[in-house]
Amino acid sequence: MRGIVIYDSIFGNTEQVAVAVRSSLSLDGGAEVVRVADMTPGLLADADFIVIGSPTRGFRPTDAIVHFLKALPAGALNGKRAAAFDTRISVDDIEQAMLRIIVKNGGYAAPNIAKRLEKCGARIEAPPEGFFVKGSEGPLKEGEVERAASWAKRIAAAAQSGNE
Ligand SMILES: Cc1cc2nc3c(=O)[nH]c(=O)nc-3n(C[C@H](O)[C@H](O)[C@H](O)COP(=O)(O)O)c2cc1C
Repeated sequence: MRGIVIYDSIFGNTEQVAVAVRSSLSLDGGAEVVRVADMTPGLLADADFIVIGSPTRGFRPTDAIVHFLKALPAGALNGKRAAAFDTRISVDDIEQAMLRIIVKNGGYAAPNIAKRLEKCGARIEAPPEGFFVKGSEGPLKEGEVERAASWAKRIAAAAQSGNE
């Protein structure tokens, strides 16, 4: 099984998570990490397991990720496995109560990505996951890179066991 981690990142936090996920995504066919702007149809066709990560911006993925997903035809991911993650602000770190409520209820990028992956025919291997940044531009909170690495191990194991 071959994997690909496709990501977008404005300030570098999601890129850091994407690199950590790829490093721990132990699949028998290997894995690579590619910024969404550099994606090609060939890279997608070669992958059996697709992981997509985006910063949460205004409760949703970045425009580049949204466009990439919208451009995939129905059934484009039939037979492939997938998972989604995002980076987001920890609600506990938002001082203003009103803003806390808005951010909490607004939603996050990863569930949105997972829904679209599923719509294109992929089988989602794990619930969408969020990794936390400290402020609106990061950095990542302590321990999040390590948490991303263990998440990657778990999803890779799930994808490979489901493959038997
Ligand atoms: C314009 C803007 C909108 C944002 N919207 C949200 C949001 O709706 N929810 C949230 O949790 N974080 C939000 N954030 C924080 C981002 O999630 C954070 O910038 C991102 O995790 C950093 O990832 P990156 O370094 O890969 O760009 C926003 C940040 C900016 C600058």
